[in-house]
Amino acid sequence: MCGIIGYWNIDNEALPILSGALKKLEYRGYDSFGFATLNNGQIYIEKQIGKISEVKYNNIPGRVGIGHTRWATHGGVTKQNSHPHKDCTGKIAVVHNGIIENFQELKRRLVDEGHKFLSNTDTEIIPHLIEEKLASGLDLKQSVIKISKILKGRNAFIVLDAETNEMIAIRNGSPLILGLKDKEVFIASDIPAFLDKTKEVIYLDDGQLAVIRNERPEFYDINTGKRIIKRLIKIDWNQNQAEKGSYAHFMLKEIIEQKNTIVAAINQDETQLVRVAREINNATNGVFFIGCGTAARVCHIAEYIFSKVANKRINYIPASEFENYKHFLSPETLVIAVSQSGETADVLDALKIAKSKGAKIISILNVIGSSMSRISDYTFHINAGPEKAVASTKATTSQIAVIILLSYACSGKIKDGEKLLMELSGEINDMLNPRYQEHIKNIATILSDEKVQNMFIIGRGINYPLSLESAIKIMEVSYINAQGFAGGELKHGPIALIENGTPVIVLVADDNDKAKILSNAMEVKSRGAYIIGISPDNNNIFDYWIKTPRVDSVGSAIANLIPIQLLSYYLGVAKGYNVDYPKNLAKSVTVN
Ligand code: M6R
Repeated sequence: MCGIIGYWNIDNEALPILSGALKKLEYRGYDSFGFATLNNGQIYIEKQIGKISEVKYNNIPGRVGIGHTRWATHGGVTKQNSHPHKDCTGKIAVVHNGIIENFQELKRRLVDEGHKFLSNTDTEIIPHLIEEKLASGLDLKQSVIKISKILKGRNAFIVLDAETNEMIAIRNGSPLILGLKDKEVFIASDIPAFLDKTKEVIYLDDGQLAVIRNERPEFYDINTGKRIIKRLIKIDWNQNQAEKGSYAHFMLKEIIEQKNTIVAAINQDETQLVRVAREINNATNGVFFIGCGTAARVCHIAEYIFSKVANKRINYIPASEFENYKHFLSPETLVIAVSQSGETADVLDALKIAKSKGAKIISILNVIGSSMSRISDYTFHINAGPEKAVASTKATTSQIAVIILLSYACSGKIKDGEKLLMELSGEINDMLNPRYQEHIKNIATILSDEKVQNMFIIGRGINYPLSLESAIKIMEVSYINAQGFAGGELKHGPIALIENGTPVIVLVADDNDKAKILSNAMEVKSRGAYIIGISPDNNNIFDYWIKTPRVDSVGSAIANLIPIQLLSYYLGVAKGYNVDYPKNLAKSVTVN
């Protein structure tokens, strides 16, 4: 939700670096963008509506600057509302990621005191509050610390001061990472923003700020006001992982990367797996899997995996609903968060509740150094590499892989889990060949007919939560109203919507549910449905068949998702949509 960048150096013009970085943060928001640079004691601003990769913008001078790519929360998509925002003197400019919950009362007071506002954003109060503190005699660092204690809500912002030539970055709940290289300093919401320049990074923690006056940033603790020493970390990501390369879209690249990501996900510390498995087995007051969106579906899938592999009852709850269950929590409860970004606001809030009740926290994450990893007792990184497309694909299957491994660890059979996943990875490698992709593309072209407004996906057992995830994928990328159902549920209501030609995708695994789900497919076929079978075997009720490997139901949790991801992708492409950046969405949802 919004991407922010700051850049300091002595040799280069800042704007090309800032815009290059913002293009890589575009997945965080793409309504509008803007920059502020510092030159000869003056701040220059440039803002535009639209995506930075598609819209022209004017040059502004300076070697130090900040930038922002927006996902609108407060105020519509207008130039006035796009960042950066300035104070009344024009000497302070700010970019911000997050929400200021108490901005209305603060703005009211500032307006009463004569401050002039130009936007409807919550952000604009920050430069004005800084202006107020500077006028009271505080320096920039003291002013930023003071106001960070007034602002409510989760946020991070970067301030540029034309008077002192300083830049200050502060983190209070939203991610900020510094990148260092010789005589250059980068600050960004996510590492890919500067990965082509440096791999030496410093993670800012909540309640910390960085002051940048030269190539050596200084760090401070907001609570004590004291200077702190931060550790420089060398990350081993490579630039290609964060680039599209020859692929038309990140989404396709990330789908194809699943040839390797399952193996990368299996690469977990065995001692930690055993330790966490013991925690799960000993959690006498329940195990809760929580996540949002696709990650919530992964948690639902986990319920079936644990039941089947480890004969264990775990609970799954969408993180945004977790508060309703807080009375069940105690120190004997285990909460397992599943998240690609590790920054999703609803999950972070749920984890805070869990922590306040003394529950232990485990997280299954992709982004290293994220907020969730910082509050977890144990973290499993899924090692999928940067996932840039808004629609999650490779992170989803890697999360499922880690969950499968964990469930095998709970039953004392890690090696069996590894073997299953290794074999599955080989099957996926075979599956993702050009002919397979072409076959799914052809089906997508047929389904992209504008008469297709609704689509259903059905599955039983583990393929029921998979049908729910399939619906998310199809909806977010192709904008077709897709709904997932347990196969047996359709006849209790939704079957009323089936008419001649309604597409129904049937998810089949080589398991005990096979005969029943095929009967359910028959029920809708008899009412005119057009059946796409995702199954290891063809069947004469399928109008189209997408072959999947012959794996057990646990393996099908990964194998059956891959054709769905490809189908969603090709549907979006056939309909002419920008599948990497679906409308109204952002990769990382850092607001409640
Ligand atoms: O970063 P997270 O995994 O916590 O994100 C959770 C959801 O916002 C995310 O899965 C979302 O539903 C995706 N757009 C699905 O493809």
